[in-house]
Amino acid sequence: MLSAAANERLTRVGAGTPCGELMRRYWIPFAAATQLDENPVRKVRLLGEDLVLYRNTKGGLGLIGERCLHRLVDMQFGIPDECGLRCPYHGWLYDETGACVDRPMESAKGEFKAKTKAYPVQELGGMVFAYMGPLPAPALPRWDLFVWPNAVRQIAFNVIPCNWLQCQENTGDPTHSVWTHGHLFKYALQREGKYEERAASIDHTLHGRTKWGIGIKELYANPTEHGFEKGIVFSKELGAEEDLRRRHSTVIFPFYTQTGKAGAPRSEYQIRVPIDDTNTLHICYQCYAAPQGVEAPKQDGVPWYEPPTHDAKGRPILDYVLAQDALVWVAQGPITDRSKEILGRTDLPIVLLRRQLAEQIDLVEQGGDPMNFFRESPGDMIHGSGVVPSNQKPVLQNYRRMYHKGFASDDGDRYGPAIDLVKELHRRIEEADIARSAAE
Ligand code: FES
Ligand SMILES: [Fe+2]
Repeated sequence: MLSAAANERLTRVGAGTPCGELMRRYWIPFAAATQLDENPVRKVRLLGEDLVLYRNTKGGLGLIGERCLHRLVDMQFGIPDECGLRCPYHGWLYDETGACVDRPMESAKGEFKAKTKAYPVQELGGMVFAYMGPLPAPALPRWDLFVWPNAVRQIAFNVIPCNWLQCQENTGDPTHSVWTHGHLFKYALQREGKYEERAASIDHTLHGRTKWGIGIKELYANPTEHGFEKGIVFSKELGAEEDLRRRHSTVIFPFYTQTGKAGAPRSEYQIRVPIDDTNTLHICYQCYAAPQGVEAPKQDGVPWYEPPTHDAKGRPILDYVLAQDALVWVAQGPITDRSKEILGRTDLPIVLLRRQLAEQIDLVEQGGDPMNFFRESPGDMIHGSGVVPSNQKPVLQNYRRMYHKGFASDDGDRYGPAIDLVKELHRRIEEADIARSAAE
């Protein structure tokens, strides 16, 4: 458990708060570039600040304060211009630095010095990132899934009505899978009468996850260069099928989780971006890579989607992994009161996650650079998981590489606009595997 004061310190993200200042040292992903194809102007709320993202008519991006300086019109209704965004009311024009560079019908250009708020933005791997901290901005890290070549991608966004840390703590919790993605999954499918049809196959992930509850000897958690790794140690003596150390997804500080290696037929970043203290933008950045010798289908841009979390009657949808996670995060309350918790042995990685966060907040307060803040670019591709991507010969029987055979039924991927390309990629991978096996 934490004191109420420590809980505040780790969760609040507004300007001037300890965690808010830490967050303002990072490039924060918050939109897909393809969202601007549909409408070049987009309302955004990040770290409790209301902003407007736009693409000007030359293709440049800007992120400026929500209100026009003149008479405070909401700039989400603005008109993109060659070098900025014009207010729809009297046409004042703001560039990407927030400078008001034209006031039609007013005094001559160049006389007006007032500026609106503005933050630098960059695009990488189809994601748009903002930097809201002190300048100069650090380098935007090229984490592997954003830049891995020869891959299909799609991006899922969901607004989750609770504090960001609840979502991120889920990553420090390897054993929740047993219940949230095992027993709860089964119960939800049974209640809908879909269990036989959807999960009868022993390959369905819920069966394996349910088994992870048996024979747990202990949990482990170790800091790494970019975050921490953790997992479960199973013991045959305690009833597990074998003695095994099972690594769980990797935490990349401060708000990323990586599941699967770069280069795998399916891997993803789950990114928990604080919209404000009680809302989180959950991003699943999904990357499906082709192994050597296979060509991934081509995409024009990275498409985005919003997987459904509730049905037409407002009831939670519980038949895929992210929706199950979202249910339990929100069910902890808007900002869970950690002063009332009773932690157990399985919470060991969560204790490390909180300690790491507290240490990095302290460091920023003392004027230091926190983990994963890069003054210089750390390279063309960095592996935040610390795991060497080598998955060029994946195992044939893997649930997520069998999407083309109807196995995309345990996660939100199936709602994504690129799922048919992913199935085609997996079909090509299987074909290559069969050809390789025949030649061996
Ligand atoms: S209110 Fe924006 S230009 Fe007048
Ligand atoms: Fe989960």
